[in-house]
Amino acid sequence: MLRSFFVSSVLLLAASLSAQQAVTLIPYPTTLTPGQGTFTFDATTRLRTASVAQRQVADFFTEQYARATGWDLNGPGRGGKTITVKQDTSLGDEAYRLQVAEEGITLDAGSLHALVYGLQTLRQLLPPEFEDSTATSDVDWSVPQLTIDDEPRFAWRGLMLDVSRHFFPVEYIKETIDRMAFLKLNTLHWHLVDDQGWRIEIKQYPRLTEVGAWRVDQEDVAWNARATNDPEEEATYGGYYTQADIADVVDYAWRRGITVVPEIEMPAHVMSAIAAYPWLSCFEDTIAVPSGGVWPITQIYCAGKESTFTFLEDVLTEVMALFPSRYIHVGGDEATKTNWELCPHCQRRIEAEGLAGTAELQSYFIRRMERFLSDHGRTLLGWDEILEGGLAPGATVMSWRGMQGGWEASKAGHDVVMTPTSHAYFDYYQGNPDYEPTAFGAFTYLETVYGFEPTLDSMSQAQRDHVLGGQANLWSEYVPTPEHSEYMLYPRLWATAEVLWSPQAARDWDDFSARTRRMMGRFDRMGVNYAGSAYQVRLDATSDLAAPSVTLELNSEFPDTRIHYTLDGSPVTADSPRYTDPLVLRETTPVQAAVFEAGERMTPPSEATFTFHAAANAQPAYTPGYHEAYSGQGDGTLVNLLRGSKNFHDGQWLGWLNTDVDMVLDLRASRKIESVEVGFLESQGAGIYYPTDLTVAVSNDGKTFREVGTFHRAPADNPDATIADFGVTFPAQDARYLRVRVKHGRSWLFVDEVTVR
Ligand code: ACM
Ligand code: ZN
Repeated sequence: MLRSFFVSSVLLLAASLSAQQAVTLIPYPTTLTPGQGTFTFDATTRLRTASVAQRQVADFFTEQYARATGWDLNGPGRGGKTITVKQDTSLGDEAYRLQVAEEGITLDAGSLHALVYGLQTLRQLLPPEFEDSTATSDVDWSVPQLTIDDEPRFAWRGLMLDVSRHFFPVEYIKETIDRMAFLKLNTLHWHLVDDQGWRIEIKQYPRLTEVGAWRVDQEDVAWNARATNDPEEEATYGGYYTQADIADVVDYAWRRGITVVPEIEMPAHVMSAIAAYPWLSCFEDTIAVPSGGVWPITQIYCAGKESTFTFLEDVLTEVMALFPSRYIHVGGDEATKTNWELCPHCQRRIEAEGLAGTAELQSYFIRRMERFLSDHGRTLLGWDEILEGGLAPGATVMSWRGMQGGWEASKAGHDVVMTPTSHAYFDYYQGNPDYEPTAFGAFTYLETVYGFEPTLDSMSQAQRDHVLGGQANLWSEYVPTPEHSEYMLYPRLWATAEVLWSPQAARDWDDFSARTRRMMGRFDRMGVNYAGSAYQVRLDATSDLAAPSVTLELNSEFPDTRIHYTLDGSPVTADSPRYTDPLVLRETTPVQAAVFEAGERMTPPSEATFTFHAAANAQPAYTPGYHEAYSGQGDGTLVNLLRGSKNFHDGQWLGWLNTDVDMVLDLRASRKIESVEVGFLESQGAGIYYPTDLTVAVSNDGKTFREVGTFHRAPADNPDATIADFGVTFPAQDARYLRVRVKHGRSWLFVDEVTVR
């Protein structure tokens, strides 16, 4: 309904504006009523505010305006046309009304923060040159005449930045806050504590940052392959924020409509604190700050000793003095409680408090913290593990292991923030890993993020009312630099912002895609290293094995892109054939394809060779059968001419768990063959390993097999997801049957194709 209105409004605007000034608002406003004509800024345009506070929050807009235009909205004299800002308390707290007319602009805002949002809308209406750091002449500084009435759908519109796994300087935190404000996000969840670094200065416990903020530099080693550090070894990688830094960031954020919520993890994800003060743990082991992945996390705070709680209350007292936010996040996730099972202090606590076990001990721990925070007028926020063993009264739950925790907590009358891994985890890949920097081995595509819905159909109205909103989380194990962080955040954060701000009925992927593509030009001018992954061409293939043929569709995640391709191994260019209809391949073909815009290639070319081989459409038999969870396209998966990708849920992989595999292929007729290659995936982090041995035998009657070759490889550490073909070649011979025995070390075996030549 709203959408069809929007389409016609764009057409109207387009008639009165140059093409690049077509309205590109993200998040899309609640209502937009187009007018005729434009308002044009000039050197005499002035901002009229009613208070010093209004002027201060307007600085975020006026300072950039001055850089880009060379003009001063706060300049001397009465000036010419005006932007008049008024606070209107009849509007909702985050609501604003922006009216652009020929003679002037008025902005009525429900609060200072709503004023920030209204000015950010005005910014997005201005030409992209507004983002330039120096003034350019001959820009037409016009905005379309219109009226926008706008307010957010959800009150919690967040981003979590993990600054522990890699440390990010204050300057980058501020840049990110600027971009959040641009998107009308209002909550920065600052993950300041984790195993691999304690990042906040605490005056009473200086070793937290003297020791806990630094680790041995193993940045050249893959995250999960990093060695355990010796506590005596020199620790040089890291950093922390002084309390002055924190106060500066909190104030900077507030002036941009953003509340900073600190996360002080407990009882797990605190090896950095234990490295600083071993007495915080059950057995007081001397440990180093780890440089990389630790799993499971068994070095956690002792829940028995009173000194642990004194420490945490001291820390939280300093934290509350720095952060005026209502919410204080205490983590609570992923504690493995084996030490608590063994620790006399913890066991004494369990007995004294009449607890059923260590799950209830964690609940006791969080309840104590909840009481402490609520006594100080704050609200405890924790990951959904805080539901286990009983949820503390007054606690707010951040649901990350899906939405179920949020469903349960809201049912019990608690507020919740939804941030499920499926839609909100930005440490996951956003495109084909072949063309992406190493990420956590799961997938959160732009369209997936845009499909995030923070409420569930199965929720009552009362439960829905407890859903404060949602947020995106950027864990930084695989994100070492600001540039890389930008790549993971944008454009996915644009989608999060629209999901959380705009009316649900306005959700329209095609329209969002079009605005996203235009918004990229603005982010180019900001100098942001956003990802173009949604332009990467997908080679979506199906096979007809009777023919045999492969039908290939070329798609990008963005709809309606201009795709060019080659089928002869030559590099794809803007002059290569343009893709319109599915391609039918009938012989071995190397494919290259890419999206082009204005003659420019938008991503690296996507490449694959479709190999037509002698086992296509063979009749396979597997002993034992493959695992039901990884059954691909069924028995024919390994002879369907289609290869798997590093997304092992793509339907092209068969999986076996903890077993060797014996495969027999009936080629349906005797053929001359001389090589057999089998495709495997290895992703040790996901428990998937290459085989150690292959034995290939051939037969003409399916009964008597003769061995033609063996392959052996030693198991090796491999921190990345990789795909490889292993096989044997042998003197050419006639055979109808083929037997491949795969010997496997451990855990999962994943196979996508048996290529026979
Ligand atoms: C989490 O991802 N461990 C909250
Ligand atoms: Zn203990």
